[in-house]
Amino acid sequence: MRKLAVWVGLVLLLAGCRPIVGPPSVAPSSAATAGLPGVGDPIFPLLGNTGYDVQHYTLDLTVDAARNLLKGTATLRSEATQPLAAFNLDLLGMNVSAVTIADAPALFARSGQELTITPTAPLDAGAIFTTVVAYDGTPTPLADPELAFIKQGWNNRDGTIFVVSEPGGAMTWYPVNNHPTDKATYTFRITVDEPNVVAANGVLRAEIDLGAQRTYVWEMAQPMASYLATVAIGDFVRIETPGPDGVVIRHYFPPEDVDALTRAFANTGEMVTFYSELVDDYPFDEYGVVMMPFSLGFALETQTLSVFGPEMAMEGVNAHELAHQWFGDAVTLDAWDETWLNEGFATYLQRLWLENELGGDFLDKGMRQYYENLTVFKTPPPGAVEEATLFSEAVYERGAWVLHALRLKIGDDLFWQFLRTYYARFKDGVVSTEDFIATANEVSGDDLTDFLNAWIYDETMPPIPE
Ligand code: ARG
Ligand code: ZN
Repeated sequence: MRKLAVWVGLVLLLAGCRPIVGPPSVAPSSAATAGLPGVGDPIFPLLGNTGYDVQHYTLDLTVDAARNLLKGTATLRSEATQPLAAFNLDLLGMNVSAVTIADAPALFARSGQELTITPTAPLDAGAIFTTVVAYDGTPTPLADPELAFIKQGWNNRDGTIFVVSEPGGAMTWYPVNNHPTDKATYTFRITVDEPNVVAANGVLRAEIDLGAQRTYVWEMAQPMASYLATVAIGDFVRIETPGPDGVVIRHYFPPEDVDALTRAFANTGEMVTFYSELVDDYPFDEYGVVMMPFSLGFALETQTLSVFGPEMAMEGVNAHELAHQWFGDAVTLDAWDETWLNEGFATYLQRLWLENELGGDFLDKGMRQYYENLTVFKTPPPGAVEEATLFSEAVYERGAWVLHALRLKIGDDLFWQFLRTYYARFKDGVVSTEDFIATANEVSGDDLTDFLNAWIYDETMPPIPE
């Protein structure tokens, strides 16, 4: 993002200096060029691409879960954001058999995670165009030693398929503009052999009985970052209950654990009410978790359908992944070195739910315990992390402290007003640490820049505000 901003600035500067020669209708800036192969993310420079913005993905996938084979057609409706001679999608592994743009065959080439597509004629800036990619193969999740806890993307374990992509795994199973700065809506049409069940993001719109096979149509109607797209295929039972304000609570549980898990997740609806009253209405139509029949070691806040391992079936984790639906999913970090914008908020809101349950001084006492640990262990700041520390205590606990410090500094009323203003302003989009600070300054009517910078970027923990 930052590199991109500099680059765009430079182009505008040069364009502004250009002497006007020749007929004004043929401005040199209208010459179509290729989009860049990355958006300039500070940690993952090749994630995402420039030159276009995807509006909607339709993923038609036929999956042989037992053999882990996927045959798919991805249809992307996009808008060109510049005169575009060629552009990239991100796709790692898989065989691409054909690409069309507006139904005309397009040239394509592959190199690493970059799929470069050249339309027969350049696209005008502002043009809405449809790209169709036909592909197949066995998706291979990304095993990054710096993020050893997760194999990013499409996983198959004993015939059960689950997708956990944070941060870069979406490109293991569909061609994608793979950066949170390009959110889009989705339709999933997934065909599997009976008796497999398919869960994905959003709302289950239809089930089409094909005899030996069944197609599940899922619709994610609100914008979603690619790392939050998920599919689960296997032996799951859907447990559905009405939630508050028309939000449907639906979980997908392994059949043998339905009773225990129904009890463990019974207060999900109350949690939705709690966060709705604290922040704003739940941002999507439905919510629930999909529980794996084997241990995962983590949970992930995949939009409307958090992926869980059974060892994570705990109230605090349920509250954490649910809180992410507001902070992380509806409001999303704009660059991967700012995971604190997701995790600091979810950690703090998780503790707010537990305080609501347990009462007393649970929250402030717990935060002061964190403070001690963070000080003793000299935990680095959350502000600009590296790949290995994307999900470290710096991000979760020190990240939560940024919010608690702000609350102690400006008082409860202004803090809740800040939380709601920040959410309303960046909902359905992305947010930067600078946006966070600017919003806090604006709502408090105070210049808190130095104060917040110290909490976000200083090596040592600042003193707790009185
Ligand atoms: N965004 C996920 C969460 O916080 C990340 C899970 C990271 N897990 C881990 N063991 N580091 O819910
Ligand atoms: Zn989290």
